[in-house]
Amino acid sequence: MQQPEKIQPADGKLAVFLPGLGAVATTFVAGCLLARRGLAQPVGSLTQMGTIRLGKRTDNRSPKIKDFVPLAGLDQLEFAGWDLFPDSAYEAAAHAEVLEGKHLDPIKEELHAVKPMTAAFYPEYVKRLHGTHVKSLQTKADVVEALREDIRRTMKEKGCSRGTAVWCGSTEIYVEASAVHQSIASFEKGLLENDPGIASSQLYAWACLKEGIPYANGAPNLTVDFPAAQQLSREMATPISGKDFKTGQTLMKTILAPGFKARMLGLNGWFSTNILGNRDGEVLDDPQNFKTKEVSKLGVLEHILQPAHYADLYGHLYHKVRIEYYPPRGDAKEGWDNIDIFGWLGYPMQIKVDFLCRDSILAAPLVLDLALFMDLAKRAGFSGTQEWLSFFYKSPMTAEGLYPEHDLFIQSMKLKNTLRWMMGAELITHLGNEYYD
Ligand SMILES: NC(=O)c1ccc[n+]([C@@H]2O[C@H](COP(=O)([O-])OP(=O)(O)OC[C@H]3O[C@@H](n4cnc5c(N)ncnc54)[C@H](O)[C@@H]3O)[C@@H](O)[C@H]2O)c1
Repeated sequence: MQQPEKIQPADGKLAVFLPGLGAVATTFVAGCLLARRGLAQPVGSLTQMGTIRLGKRTDNRSPKIKDFVPLAGLDQLEFAGWDLFPDSAYEAAAHAEVLEGKHLDPIKEELHAVKPMTAAFYPEYVKRLHGTHVKSLQTKADVVEALREDIRRTMKEKGCSRGTAVWCGSTEIYVEASAVHQSIASFEKGLLENDPGIASSQLYAWACLKEGIPYANGAPNLTVDFPAAQQLSREMATPISGKDFKTGQTLMKTILAPGFKARMLGLNGWFSTNILGNRDGEVLDDPQNFKTKEVSKLGVLEHILQPAHYADLYGHLYHKVRIEYYPPRGDAKEGWDNIDIFGWLGYPMQIKVDFLCRDSILAAPLVLDLALFMDLAKRAGFSGTQEWLSFFYKSPMTAEGLYPEHDLFIQSMKLKNTLRWMMGAELITHLGNEYYD
C-alpha cells in the first residue's frame, strides 16, 4: 500500500449494497436508521464509538475515529440489497425476530422501502434454500451484466456518488480456487461457460469490482479470495476484504487465546459447540456448507498459538468445532467452550465459557464499519486485500505467502496505526513513554 497523497472527501451519498437481505443485513439497516434518528446507540461499532490516541499520552488527544478520518456519515447512507426471497427489509427483519417491535415500528416505512432486487442464485451452492426471486438468464456472464445494471440503476435512482458492498448472504458449500480462478481472462471465460467453480457470491463480487465498488465478504465463501479477483481489484483500483465476520465464539477465542499465549500457559484441548436456530443455522446444517464454516473457524488457534515455535505448550492441542441447528433458539445463539489448559509443572486446569449471544446484534456493527472503512480505502486509492481490516474477520485474507493475523489486539493496533499512517500522524508503538522521552 502506498501512503495516500490525498484522500478524496466523503461528499455525497454512499450506496451500501447488501447481497443477502436476511437477519444480519436487516439488523444492520435498522440500526443505522435508528441511530441516525437518535433512537438507539450504534454499540459495537468502532467507526461510530471508537477513539484513537494521537501523540504522547500526556498530549491528551483522543478524537473519535469518525472525526479523525473522513468517513461517510450515517445520514449519507442509502441501502440496497438482493435476495432470493422478495420480502422487504421490514418483512425480513420481522421474520428474523432479532429486533423487537419497539425498534422496528418507528422505522417501518423506511425498512419497507428497501426491497431486494432479484438474486444471482444457483441452488447447488446453498441446497437448503428454495427461493423464486432470482435472475434466470442463460450464462453466469449474463447474470454479472444484470447485477451491474442493478448497481448502476440503484446509484442513479438514489442519487449516490459512490457505492460499497458487504456480502451478508448465506454460507455456500466449500469451493476451492481452481484453474478458472487464476486470471481475469480464465474467470471471464468461465462466466460464459457456466463453470461450476464460480459460485453465486463470486458473481456479485465480480459485478461490484467491475463497477468500481469495494467488496467486503462477511461469509467464509471463496468469493474474492483468488488471484483473478485480486487482479481485477488492482486493475479497477477497488479494494477487497474478507472473510467471515468475527463474532460470537470466534471473537471470544481470539480474545482469550492471545492471553494464554502471552502468559505462556499451555493448552491441551479446545472444544467449541454452538446451538442456533436461525436461517444461517439451517443452511449450516448441511455438511457441505458447514465445511466452509469449519475451515474458517479452525484456522484461528493455529496462527495465534504458533505450535511450531511453542511445541511444549501447544504442540498437542486438540481443537474441535461443532454447530448444531436447534430451531427454538432462533438468532439467540449459545456457544459453549471447554478449554483444557495447563500451568506450572504441567498441572491441568479447565475454563468453561458459555456465551449466550445474539448473532446478528454482534455482526451488524461490523457491516457498518466495513462499509465505511472500505469506502475510505477506495477514496485513499487502495486496492487489493485490505489486511488492516482483519480485525473484523474470522478468517482474514492476506497477501500471497503470508499467514493471517488472528490476535484481536494485534489486529486492533494494526487498524489504528493504518489510520494514523493514512492521515500522516505519528504511529504509536507503546515505546516512547515517560521513561524513554
Ligand atoms: N451473524 C453472525 O454472527 C455471523 C458471523 C459470521 C458470518 N456470518 C455470515 O453472514 C451471513 C448472513 O447471516 P444471517 O444470519 O443474516 O443469515 P440469513 O440466513 O438470515 O440471511 C442470509 C440471506 O442471504 C440470502 N441469500 C443466500 N444466497 C443468496 C444469493 N446468492 N443472493 C442473494 N441472497 C442470498 C438468503 O435468502 C437469506 O435471506 C451468513 O453467511 C453467515 O454465515 C454471520
